[in-house]
Amino acid sequence: MTSVLTVESRPAHQVETLRRAEASGVDLRRLPRHVAIIMDGNGRWAKSMHRPRIEGHRAGIKSVREIVRVCRRLEIPNLTLYAFSSENWKRPGAEVNALMILLCNFLRREIREMLDNEIRLNAIGRLNELPGPVQRSLDSAMRETAGGGKMQLTLALSYGGRLEIIDAVKKIARRVEEGALSVDDITPETFAAELDTGGTPDPDLLIRTSGEMRVSNFLLWQIAYSEIWITPTLWPDFRSEEFFAALRDFQGRQRRFGGVDIDGAL
Ligand code: FPP
Repeated sequence: MTSVLTVESRPAHQVETLRRAEASGVDLRRLPRHVAIIMDGNGRWAKSMHRPRIEGHRAGIKSVREIVRVCRRLEIPNLTLYAFSSENWKRPGAEVNALMILLCNFLRREIREMLDNEIRLNAIGRLNELPGPVQRSLDSAMRETAGGGKMQLTLALSYGGRLEIIDAVKKIARRVEEGALSVDDITPETFAAELDTGGTPDPDLLIRTSGEMRVSNFLLWQIAYSEIWITPTLWPDFRSEEFFAALRDFQGRQRRFGGVDIDGAL
């Protein structure tokens, strides 16, 4: 039994998750600080069941709820979910509408659990492109949960990494134009602060479901040194046991951030 489980008293459901993670081989003292997930495969899941695509998204919400809970119970302080990309607007109107309705329902249903568990909701992306009612639901959920200090749940919505970088470049250019910043003072840190994710640490672990080997315009700047873990499992089938497998794999990696590990150093 690790000190993590014995030192403090935690609610029974949390201890159960911690024990299950530990029993599966996860080291509770070396968890990532930020996990980002490309939730892919909802459409294929629905197709495999001979059901409409939207049923796949609806089933995907169950995975969202489970993974948010597991992260909170493992005390992983940042989780970012790619819920709607800037390219997803190209999908049929009915699917886009259905996704927006699912999002609003999710916000309405989960607000109580987020408040009870001190989870702060955050959103990144071109939020002004979302339909008015979605923007209002998001704003109010973010305002209500703003005090949540245990975990930040970020939803990437109408999000694209390239657009985010362009927007940051424009903000920097304006500051230079106004004389508030000199060109020589532009550093990775000043630049990162202008991204939608400014203030949030970069993801340590990026998970993608459904087996595609690409990053699909997600957090392009921020994943420079993230460990990437890809599973063939479709998102609606992704559950805590597989999340633990991703964590174990992450813990087995040697992160050198472009340097050398101590044993390899001359
Ligand atoms: C990719 O599957 C998934 C999406 C475009 C949306 C993900 C959305 C959800 C899980 C539900 C809403 C989320 C929240 C946070 C409320 P796909 O449709 O591209 O699947 P396919 O590649 O198999 O077609």
